[in-house]
Amino acid sequence: MINFILNDKEIKTLENKGMGLLDFIRKDQHLTGTKEGCREGDCGACTVLVGELAGDKVEYKSVNSCLLPLGDADGKHIVTIEGFNLEELNPLQNAMVEEGGTQCGFCTPGFIVSLEGYFIANENVNAFDAVESVDGNICRCTGYAGIKRSAERIVKLIISNQKKSKNYLEKLVGLKLIPEYFLAVPQRLKKITLSKKRNGSNDRRPDYFVAGGTDLFVQKWETMLESNIKLISGEKKYSGISISGGRIKIGGNTTVTEITKSPVMQKYFTEIKKYFSLFGSQPIRSRATLAGNIINASPIADMTIFFLALNSDITFSNGKKKRKLLLRNLYKGYKTLDKKSDEILECLSFKIPHGNFLFNYEKVSRRTYLDIASVNSSMYVELNGNIITSAHISAGGVAPFPLCLDKTSKYLIGKQGSPDVINRAVEIMLSEISPISDARGSAEYKALLLRQLIFSHFIKFFPEMINVEELV
Ligand SMILES: Cc1cc2nc3c(=O)[nH]c(=O)nc-3n(C[C@H](O)[C@H](O)[C@H](O)COP(=O)(O)OP(=O)(O)OC[C@H]3O[C@@H](n4cnc5c(N)ncnc54)[C@H](O)[C@@H]3O)c2cc1C
Ligand code: FES
Ligand code: FES
Repeated sequence: MINFILNDKEIKTLENKGMGLLDFIRKDQHLTGTKEGCREGDCGACTVLVGELAGDKVEYKSVNSCLLPLGDADGKHIVTIEGFNLEELNPLQNAMVEEGGTQCGFCTPGFIVSLEGYFIANENVNAFDAVESVDGNICRCTGYAGIKRSAERIVKLIISNQKKSKNYLEKLVGLKLIPEYFLAVPQRLKKITLSKKRNGSNDRRPDYFVAGGTDLFVQKWETMLESNIKLISGEKKYSGISISGGRIKIGGNTTVTEITKSPVMQKYFTEIKKYFSLFGSQPIRSRATLAGNIINASPIADMTIFFLALNSDITFSNGKKKRKLLLRNLYKGYKTLDKKSDEILECLSFKIPHGNFLFNYEKVSRRTYLDIASVNSSMYVELNGNIITSAHISAGGVAPFPLCLDKTSKYLIGKQGSPDVINRAVEIMLSEISPISDARGSAEYKALLLRQLIFSHFIKFFPEMINVEELV
């Protein structure tokens, strides 16, 4: 039994936990304000909020309901556009009308839910972040200026309302931005007993492990409906970031958002927020896990490319035995892995960058945001003075799987980042890759892109040593 609160109503259902939440909301509950657009996590028309108990509070985040397994709603508060309705339009809904933020209206519920999610989750609101919160929502007909003005109007409303409330949600209720029933949700959620059968019968081996579902529910949502799936996104033992034995360890279930916000990661990779702002959208980043990225084995997987350059290892477990291997040795061919079907990727670890080290990550895609890479690359070097003592370069989109540029990296040891060295490194790189022509560009174009990304790494690392004109 899956048991959760949908807006103000308690739900108990025996539907398959692999059903997409969007279908449950629209077809079972007839809440048709949540729209189905792309069904691939790209348009945001299906956005809902998922609220999870954290102590005495509920933490809300926006997600694409088309990619969320119904089973992951268990024990949570799901808020659709109908869950924000009052007797009259609320101030945000009103602002969208008055500021010209809506035309055909198909995208509007998604925008409103994303913005509501931002206002609920952040006591210190500002216009920039409010607009960022709709990075996963697309509007085909209105244009974004009216939507931006609506968001700014509510930011001003919240900031100008100085009245102190004990509870921030009470303030939002007072401003009529959310209905009063939100205040009782934490107590109600505590009473909901998590379904004991959440992960299905144990006597049958699961057909699929599902983490964030952001790959599986794009590729196989109909299969998920019928399958015996094991939901592992809620398993805390596979989550989190820690340091031990001189290594940084990241649980397989850790999401892009958690990796980006981690103080440990920010300390060693000061530009990590910038790098991963190019990964999907906020709703995707808050669900997409590290293990899902690695196991999906896309040749352009962004997190995989990032961690390959850190010479990471990964640990699998089948519940009885653990097995460790270098991430670079996982891939045997296109979507062919050294992995058994019952193995769960527990964690990834890499040596703490030390001494004089440099790291850079680059991604080129057809549009800057909410797009997968045409080609991506990371580079890590350690230096003694100006001499490179250790180097690892990874590259995506130029081989059947995420690639380590071993020969190029080896060539760089003992060298300085001079134009001659860089040009020779690029020649070696070209001998290591095997790009194919596809929707993201011709093989020649991808080789050219990777050359530019290698230049980019070196220009960032050694700006004073490089005269760009000398790079061919
Ligand atoms: C709109 C959109 C935008 C995207 N943008 C990007 C992008 O910019 N860059 C990018 O790299 N990717 C992107 N993706 C792809 C996807 O979000 C990532 O690959 C993500 O990391 C997958 O993680 P997940 O937890 O959702 O995986 P899931 O879909 O849950 O699983 C993917 C695979 O991994 C397996 N798996 C998951 N966890 C484990 C585990 N612990 N052990 C063993 N097997 C496991 C599953 O069985 C499945 O085979 C995007 C996807 C969408 C829909
Ligand atoms: S329907 Fe487009 S993101 Fe879900
Ligand atoms: S108002 Fe028509 S798609 Fe946004």
